[in-house]
Amino acid sequence: MAVPGVGLLTRLHLYAQRRTRVQRPVLRLLSCPGTVAEDLRRDEQPSGSKETGFEDKIPKKRFSEMQNERREQAQRTVLIHCPEKISEKKFLKYLSQHGSINNHFFYESFGLYAVVEFCQKESVRSLQNETHAPSKGMEVAIPFRSRFFNLKLKNQTSERSRVQMSNQLPPSSKKLFEVLCDAENIDDQLNTLLKEFQLTEENTKLRYLTCSLIEDIAAAYFPDCIVRPFGSSVNTFGKLGCDLDMFLDLNETRSLSTHKTSGNFLMEFQVKNVPSERIATQKILSVIGECLDNFSPGCVGVQKILNARCPLVRFSHQASGLQCDLTTNNRIALTSSELLYIYGALDSRVRALVFTVRCWARAHSLTSSIPGAWITNFSLTMMVIFFLQRRSPPILPTLDSLQTLADAEDKCIIESNNCTFVRDLNRIKPSENTETLELLLKEFFEYFGNFAFNKNSINIRQGREQNKPDSSPLYIQNPFETSLNISKNVNQSQLQKFVDLAQESTWILQQEHLDGPSISGNQPWGLVALLLPSGASRKSLGKKKSRKPANERIKVLLESIKSNRTENFTDTNGKRQISTQT
Ligand code: GTP
Ligand code: MG
Repeated sequence: MAVPGVGLLTRLHLYAQRRTRVQRPVLRLLSCPGTVAEDLRRDEQPSGSKETGFEDKIPKKRFSEMQNERREQAQRTVLIHCPEKISEKKFLKYLSQHGSINNHFFYESFGLYAVVEFCQKESVRSLQNETHAPSKGMEVAIPFRSRFFNLKLKNQTSERSRVQMSNQLPPSSKKLFEVLCDAENIDDQLNTLLKEFQLTEENTKLRYLTCSLIEDIAAAYFPDCIVRPFGSSVNTFGKLGCDLDMFLDLNETRSLSTHKTSGNFLMEFQVKNVPSERIATQKILSVIGECLDNFSPGCVGVQKILNARCPLVRFSHQASGLQCDLTTNNRIALTSSELLYIYGALDSRVRALVFTVRCWARAHSLTSSIPGAWITNFSLTMMVIFFLQRRSPPILPTLDSLQTLADAEDKCIIESNNCTFVRDLNRIKPSENTETLELLLKEFFEYFGNFAFNKNSINIRQGREQNKPDSSPLYIQNPFETSLNISKNVNQSQLQKFVDLAQESTWILQQEHLDGPSISGNQPWGLVALLLPSGASRKSLGKKKSRKPANERIKVLLESIKSNRTENFTDTNGKRQISTQT
């Protein structure tokens, strides 16, 4: 959504409110009630944290616990397409005939939707039993009983009130710039960016509900299957609008045959065999893809991408507005998500830094939603983790040290790859490093702006640079499939672009530092300067040094923002897309 440049005039006063470099506790800005960040704050505070001193008494949830709780919650939840005007009170009264409602929220995505979580699963069944398939004139409805409903009004005119909407979108560039310029210092800016972009509690619920609805479809073939979200939806690094990666877990179905033994007898299912795991995956996904396309309400644009390295079914879940990728036989990716979840929860600076680097990379087109030679968000996250392992004292432990902390329960071998690491967050000692986010960001750019990419690889398992085993421009060792490079796709020119921008960003942050707190002006500063296109921010900072009159600096700012506002934030469906482009 492009914002006309002239509209920016109305907010210039915000830039004029010069920040004071007051050091605030890192965690203060993360306390946004009802958000995932708040959950993390409550559930996953680093023990012994200096901020409040009480965090180490709070038990931190394991990834599997969190996933199971969310899944169970989603199974008691329904999705309802509502009329535009509706009385919330009457709506809830009507639904509570089926049982008590635990919580609910409304959101907009080409229409008004309600997500309603009942206290009991039985209530969902009761609602389904009282619902009928619509008759649609000449068309014939496929009588599929899902948990996605359509609410109609018998009397359209009687409902007048509008309900309060939960936001599912990231901030516009305009709003982002406003809040960032209004921050007190660079640390504050990083935390503000995190707060603005992180998945909200409602968005997380919607993601688990979407998986649960897809699970209902897949269960028609595989009754014991589980559709688990993975990737940035659950690894704590997801930005509002990120895709929803789903993993069709058939392990329960498969393992049944191995566990049912008694005496001398061993019972197995009669099954069909295929020559390889890959062919089995392709067959399963092909059938589920067909099913989604033909029977699942709200799933559109179903594409079966079965010849990819990791076969998948891609589709849009219209009602949630989520772009979904369904895979199976991809357990290592789920384990990677668990590892990132642990890293994200260990220290409050990790997420703020990762979000900032991801937004910075997106703003400079280093990453893209289209596959190609670009660096991926996953690779960027690995780079931040590696950098934090290299600090002195380290902010994050190496994967090898997480493996040493593992107990018997944590032992995990997937396709002969060792995926063992400690799952209990409470057993990992917090870092003693107290560096500020501003310093870490500057050092991150400096570190990678000067990294010997030509000879060294990045390895979070050992937390140290190693000789590259091949000539790929960027080599980031896959933490579990250790002979693989997760950034094999990145070409030399994309890597060079990354290095150049990292060097330029170091320079920008150094200027910020030199300016100190006393300078007043209306320029984009700190993070905003980093997120602007490189020419614009350099120009703007150049002006700052030479102290041009304020009106000229404002002009530069407007021009730089306007020139960068040309990108229209729409996707192929013409829908507003979630973008960090600034
Ligand atoms: P977004 O860009 O926000 O979607 O980040 P993401 O972390 O969800 O990345 P993506 O959707 O591309 O991939 C989903 C998950 O698959 C990642 O979080 C990783 O766990 C895993 N993954 C992605 N790329 C690779 C790769 O190259 N190698 C391996 N082993 N796993 C990968
Ligand atoms: Mg993803």
